[in-house]
Order: sequence, then structure tokens, then C-alpha cells
Amino acid sequence: MENRELINLAKQAMENAYAPYSSFKVGAAVVGKKGTVYTGCNIENVSYGATNCAERTAMFKGVSEGEIEFKKIAIVSTAQDLTFPCGICRQVMAEFMRGGMVILEDKEGIIKEFSVEELLPKAFVR
Ligand code: THU
Repeated sequence: MENRELINLAKQAMENAYAPYSSFKVGAAVVGKKGTVYTGCNIENVSYGATNCAERTAMFKGVSEGEIEFKKIAIVSTAQDLTFPCGICRQVMAEFMRGGMVILEDKEGIIKEFSVEELLPKAFVR
């Protein structure tokens, strides 16, 4: 799966974002080890605390279908610039995406890649 294609799937997933509280929509698309793509969007809640990020929605969809190893994840948002994953999502990536890559698009439309390890160095793992 090409990075550009994965970014486009993340953009499609962003259309389903449920973000009435922040109005900040996020989409993600993650590729499993077997090549299956899982997409996700952020899902907010009136309690705020129950909100789920797009990245975790995508990864958890895969895990719930038996995929526990992902190679790369594309993330886009309405900020239309590099949208780095939050700390909680980075920790989940440390669990399911060891050695994986995070694919982002900057405001010029240029695709940038970051390793999970560079985004969360010295992660807590067991
Ligand atoms: N959000 C994500 O979905 N992913 C991130 O990496 C950062 C934040 C969501 C959570 C919330 O619904 C909205 O963006 C504003 O913080």
C-alpha cells in the first residue's frame, strides 16, 4: 500500500469523524502485517474523557479482528498540516506497531514519515 493511497483512505475515514465538541476532525488508516487496512476517525463524547482518537479507533478495529501487528499508519486532520499522534496513541503504537512508521502530510501536500520509536523513545514495554 502506497503512502499516498493510505493518506487518501485516512481522509475518507475523517469524513465520519464525530467531533461536535472540538470541531477538530481526524482520520487514520493503518496497515496490518497481512496487508489489511483498517480505518478510523475520532469519536468524541459529551463527557470529553470518553473520546477516542482516530488512530486508536483504527488500530483497535484491527486488533478486534485478530491483527496485533501494524506496519504503518497515516494520520490526517482538519488542521491540514502535520498532525502528530497524542501521547496515548503513541503508547498504543509502541504495543502494536513496534518498528512501524507514521505517515503524515504537511500543508504543502508533502508526505513525511516518522518512526514509532522516534515519536516515543524509551517507551514502556514489557
Ligand atoms: N485527536 C485525534 O483523533 N488524534 C490525535 O492524534 C489528536 C487528537 C482528536 C481527539 C479529539 O476528538 C480532537 O482530536 C481534539 O483534540
